[in-house]
Order: sequence, then structure tokens, then C-alpha cells
Amino acid sequence: MKRRSFVLAGLGTGGLLAAVGLRPGDHGQPHDAYFQALNRELKANGPMRPALLIDLDRLDQNIEVVRQFLERSGKHLRLVEKSLPAPDLLRYIGERIGTRRLMSFHQPFLNHDAQAFPESDILLGKPLPVRSAQLFYQQHRGPFDPSRQLQWLIDTSERLAQYLALAQGVGTRLRINIELDVGLHRGGIAEAQALAPLLQLIADNPQHLEFAGFMGYDPFVGMNLPELLGTPEELLAKVMAHYQRCVDFTRQHFPALWHEGLTLNTAGSPSYSAHERESLSSEVSIGTGLLKPSHYDLPSLAGHVPAVYIATPVLKRTGALRLPGLDDKSRLLSWWDVNQRETFFVYGGNWLADFASPAGLQLSGLFGRSSNQELVNASPAVGLGVDDQIFLRPTQSEAVLLQFGDLLAVRGGRIVERWPVYQES
Ligand SMILES: Cc1ncc(COP(=O)(O)O)c(C=O)c1O
Repeated sequence: MKRRSFVLAGLGTGGLLAAVGLRPGDHGQPHDAYFQALNRELKANGPMRPALLIDLDRLDQNIEVVRQFLERSGKHLRLVEKSLPAPDLLRYIGERIGTRRLMSFHQPFLNHDAQAFPESDILLGKPLPVRSAQLFYQQHRGPFDPSRQLQWLIDTSERLAQYLALAQGVGTRLRINIELDVGLHRGGIAEAQALAPLLQLIADNPQHLEFAGFMGYDPFVGMNLPELLGTPEELLAKVMAHYQRCVDFTRQHFPALWHEGLTLNTAGSPSYSAHERESLSSEVSIGTGLLKPSHYDLPSLAGHVPAVYIATPVLKRTGALRLPGLDDKSRLLSWWDVNQRETFFVYGGNWLADFASPAGLQLSGLFGRSSNQELVNASPAVGLGVDDQIFLRPTQSEAVLLQFGDLLAVRGGRIVERWPVYQES
């Protein structure tokens, strides 16, 4: 009984639509010219295991869009390291855009950054436990000078007191950037007056603490929220009103802490373009938008193009879908749905990603997911053979980019560089 309802439920998924006929792209050639070139290149020179591709031609287009924004707005760019987690990728973008500013979120990556980018200026993107900060100092080597080049992010006066004790213990001065809750409600200072105890502690301990600025992250401004929650313009106005109140409070009550060189950080990929309309912030943070995985298919990033794909080879082609237990009775499924008449097992799988090429690939829904050999169904006309690559588009960048070993940088359909990703320790 149980088994029958399982199968019938499966018949419903996509069956009716798919029974109508072949899907676009099913004309004997699995990929369009773009993916066909990558397929050829990977078969000849690729690792023949799952690989993460960064398309440099497309990345260059996104860099150009951001560069023009920076030119128009007069703002600086801070690259979000966790979203572009390979030092050579960060270097490539940083050199082209001309920024040495990084935003880091993870102590092991922070120690790597301090070594790989001794000239950089680093702002933490989240408040780390004080023990993580202590580990950073214990492990730090090289010419990067944290007392000039690093800003710790602080959200509460309790944490600031812990960092003060660390500074006293290490015998150094910490630069402190204060997290503002500009509407995301992920912590930080929500009322300007609540800045007072933090700024007072900084003012009272000039040997060990230095005020370095504010960070107010507002991705919701560009996230396509329902109109009823506010238009992007209205949301931005609220963000900036709070930011302005915090700036005014500091200037008024702690004028000695204020100076022109402070870091007034804001935005993320979804919202950066909205900040062209304000002149209070000094810099925007951008990471993921430069690669544009699918969760960043937002109107605010319409000028950006997808520049990241997963490629993985087909290991096996086994014909119509056959389910364990159902065996030949599975034929009913492929009779119903032409896109279950061919079955491929690919190398790896179960990623945060959707099929990109060839068109018409689908998960079975009945067979289950696999990180080792994922089952992929299609129509026989899809034209894929063993050793051909399929391509997927990640939904996000940060975690996905760390799952494949070296990134393969491609240009003009050729692998031109292999870039190691960050290690966790
Ligand atoms: C504080 C902060 N700024 C900026 C960003 C933007 O990163 P991305 O451009 O990769 O979305 C993030 C992302 O999590 C963040 O936490």
C-alpha cells in the first residue's frame, strides 16, 4: 500500500508536462556553443571529476559594472572574502578594480589574508568570539600590522570589554568598528544612544582601543521584498536615517573620536547600487554579485552576468529510469515522462546548485540524492554520452566554492588558471 502511493506520487511530478515532448535544446547536441566549448576543453584538459569554473570573461564584465559604479559614486570597494574564497580570485578582482580592502568572516581565513595580502586593509564582517581574536594574534606572522590594517567588528559593550582585556594582555591597540543594526535585525546597535557605553570605553582607553568606524549591512534593500514592506528607495531611506543618527550622535558626544578617515561601511551585493543615491557611507562591500550565482538573480543585479558553474562528467548512461524494487515496472514512469527515458549517473552531486546545461536535465525525485554518484534523468534526445560534462549553476558562492579543490579559471572556453581555495585551518 505504502509502496503504491509512493510511486503514484512520483508520477505526478512533472509527468504531464514532460509527456508532451522533448525540451528545448534536445536536438542531438547536448550543449549550446558556450557549454560545448567548455565540455571539449574539460574532456581534454580537465580533472574529469567535479570542478568549479570561474569564467573570467564574464567576471570581467561584472568587474566593469562595479568599477563604473565606484567611479560614479566616489565610494571605495571592500571585497567580501568569504564569498570569493580563493586568494588568487580576490587578487584578480582587487588588482582590476584597484582595491586592497577586504571583509573577512573567519579566523583561519583572516590569518591567511594577513599573510597573502600584507598590504590589505581588513574589516571583520561579523563579531568574532574574543578567543578567535586571540588565536589570530597567536598565529599571526609577517609584515601585516593589525594595529594599522585591521578593524575588529564589535556589537555590544560586553564584547568590547572582552576585546579591551585582550588588547591589554597582548599589549597592543585594537581598531574597533561598530556594527549598526540598520534594519536587518541581525544584531548591532539599534538606537544611536546605545553607542554611548562603547564609545566611552574607547575614549577612556586610547592606548588599547581606537574607534575606526561603522558597518551597517542592508541586503534587504535590494532583495525584492513585497512592496508592502517598502520600495527599495523607502528601505534605503530608513537605513541611511539610522546610519546618520549614529554618525550625528558620535560627532556630537564624542567629537574627539571623529575624523575624516573613518570607515563608514555599508551594503552587500544586492544593495550596493542603491547607495549611489547617498553620500554618507564611504565604502560598499561586494562579493557574491561578482560571480552571480542564482540566488542573486535580482533586479538590482540585472547588469551582472553569471560567471560561476559546476562541471561534472557523466559516468554512466543506463537508459530508462529503473527504481530499486520496481525493476521493470519502472517502465511506466518513462512511458509517462519522456524526460525519464534516459538516466545518467554523474560524478558527485547534491550540491547547492541547479542544472544549467544541457536543457531538460532533472532529478528523479524518487531515487534520492547522492553526493557520490547522482542520478540525473533526461530525454534520450539530450545527446549526452559517458565522459561528457553536465553543467550546474550554484545557488550561492561561499560554501559551494570550497567543495571542489582548485577553482578552474576559464577564458574563451579554455582553462587558463588553477586557483587553490582557502583551507579551514
Ligand atoms: C556584513 C556583510 N557585508 C556584506 C556582505 C555581502 O556579501 P555578498 O556581496 O557576498 O553578498 C555580507 C554577506 O554576508 C555581510 O555579512
